[in-house]
Amino acid sequence: MTMAIEKIPTGTIAPSLLSADFARLGESIELVMDAGATVMHVDVMDGKFVPPITIGSLIVDAIRDLVKSRGGVIDCHLMVERPERQVEMFAKAGADIITIHPEATPHIHYALQTIRAAGCKAGVVINPGSPVELVEPVADIIDMCLVISVNPGWGGQKYIPSSTGRIARLRSMLPDDVVIEIDGGVSLDTVDEIRDAGANLFVAGSAVFGAADPQAAFKALAARVA
Ligand code: DX5
Ligand code: ZN
Repeated sequence: MTMAIEKIPTGTIAPSLLSADFARLGESIELVMDAGATVMHVDVMDGKFVPPITIGSLIVDAIRDLVKSRGGVIDCHLMVERPERQVEMFAKAGADIITIHPEATPHIHYALQTIRAAGCKAGVVINPGSPVELVEPVADIIDMCLVISVNPGWGGQKYIPSSTGRIARLRSMLPDDVVIEIDGGVSLDTVDEIRDAGANLFVAGSAVFGAADPQAAFKALAARVA
């Protein structure tokens, strides 16, 4: 089991490995960590909750030493049905943060409790088509709320503009110490309004790994949210 991290890093960009070169995963991680990245966002998809199948706990285990030896944390976004059945495996593999979708389980409160019991920070994800009020029944047992600003399943989509107002509403609903993470369509064009709305951890996939110079792209985005 992982040692729990004390605090979720904020005011930074979490590169999403979904847009990295999977044939050179370690090098891609080293590249962004050399540029200052501390949070690696891992998108886990099961082919049921969302159509694509991506990666599982095996890959988290494979990157854990690389990420942690450099002081980084692993942020696992589980786009899977019945996530409570996966929590233990991801925690053992080295996840520091685990976020789950309320639509994926009839037992969201229990599932979030399971994440904390496994020694990880727990987050609930709010989909673009779901009411922000979904957070209310679990507000006191979460460390993070992930606002997903595209429909889950794919990188490189356009930011859904109504997400900005949803971040602001969630910020006013949640205790100050609950981190608001934003995921989807984060770029130099959208990051300022997202930050101003109250988000404090920013996932970026294609805007980092899709750039000609991922290190420069990371630094330019990170400077906007520091
Ligand atoms: C989408 C994933 C995102 C994705 C974001 O289902 O949750 O983490 O990698 O990609 P970009 O930053 O390209 O929108
Ligand atoms: Zn994600």
